[in-house]
Amino acid sequence: MTILAIETSCDETSIALVEASGGFRTPEFCVIKNIVSSQIAVHIPFGGVVPNLAKREHIKNLPKVLKRLLTYNKKLIEEVDAIAVTVGPGLEPALWTGIEFAKDLSKRWKKPLIGANHMEGHLFSNWLTPIQEQKQKAKIKSQKISIQFPAVALVVSGGHTILLAMQSMTKWRKLGETRDDAAGEAFDKVARMLSLPYPGGPEIARLAKHGDCNAIDFPQPMRNHRSYDFSFSGIKTAVLYYVRDKVKATRKKLDQKEKANIAASFERAVTDVLAYKTARAAQEFGAKTILLSGGVAANVWLRKNLATVARNFGISFKAPEAEYNTDNAAMIAAAAYIRALQKKKYKMTAQSNLTL
Ligand code: KG4
Ligand code: ZN
Repeated sequence: MTILAIETSCDETSIALVEASGGFRTPEFCVIKNIVSSQIAVHIPFGGVVPNLAKREHIKNLPKVLKRLLTYNKKLIEEVDAIAVTVGPGLEPALWTGIEFAKDLSKRWKKPLIGANHMEGHLFSNWLTPIQEQKQKAKIKSQKISIQFPAVALVVSGGHTILLAMQSMTKWRKLGETRDDAAGEAFDKVARMLSLPYPGGPEIARLAKHGDCNAIDFPQPMRNHRSYDFSFSGIKTAVLYYVRDKVKATRKKLDQKEKANIAASFERAVTDVLAYKTARAAQEFGAKTILLSGGVAANVWLRKNLATVARNFGISFKAPEAEYNTDNAAMIAAAAYIRALQKKKYKMTAQSNLTL
């Protein structure tokens, strides 16, 4: 099944072409092309994503991105079997632009339309394989990505922090989620406190490399709580007070070294608590695999931390290739394929609060 997928839930306009096969037991998602047009530069002056600006940019960018794909593959219309689009979660005006665009395309090209859940997209991003890699590997051995179940999956993005126990591609139980800020959101907010641009996650990570992660002992709320829920607003507030007190005491702005120490200590506090609770879940549920995904999965500390946990338990660890951590349409094709196999349809309306 060749799927053309569209993603416009936040600040990335993305269209991808993916060949999906294998059914839900052994799915294969071969990414032929994944084009992402980022709006970050438009939102930087506002320190975060402005929904109506995002909508305006998606309307402008969607035809351009599609044209690029049509130029890349002249037989696109013939080859596509279905069109997939993100229906939620995300920013409502942004979601609608993708849905309207997809509906129009589906009518003009006479192709079925499949609604997809953005979070299922992040969850399945670990199964995506770029086509070049597939071709190279085909010469040596089977290209299939084989992930063993049961698995514990940590999905961490700008809007969500969710821990799942997965029995299969279609059967999972939510163990916990954040009770307040998402992990990525905390990174973005702390970055703003340190006068770093949006999006804050990569900026904090870059600055943290020059700091001492043991310099400040920020709290790790809910680390030892019985549940698998998370909370990040306390760490964020602790950073706010730390910065305020430091500036008051020294009557000076923070220097680069102090900022780097804050970034490193904050990064350690957040990623440690994420890894700690994921490790506990992996042990309790006898997981054979730990899966990490979502924008925060780009964080090297978190990846290393979870890789170490998995090694110590003698199980596998998997996180997506760099380009599939943050928002992209290839993952939406994967989510749509699994949905279509399940014969469970989403309504073709923007559902900003959809979850896993
Ligand atoms: O999944 P994503 O692209 O969008 C949402 O669905 O929300 O995630 C974006 C989030 C942002 O909060 C961004 O700051 C965070 O992912 N992020 C990171 C890193 N790269 C992106 N957080 C920590 N470390 C990173 N290296
Ligand atoms: Zn996302």
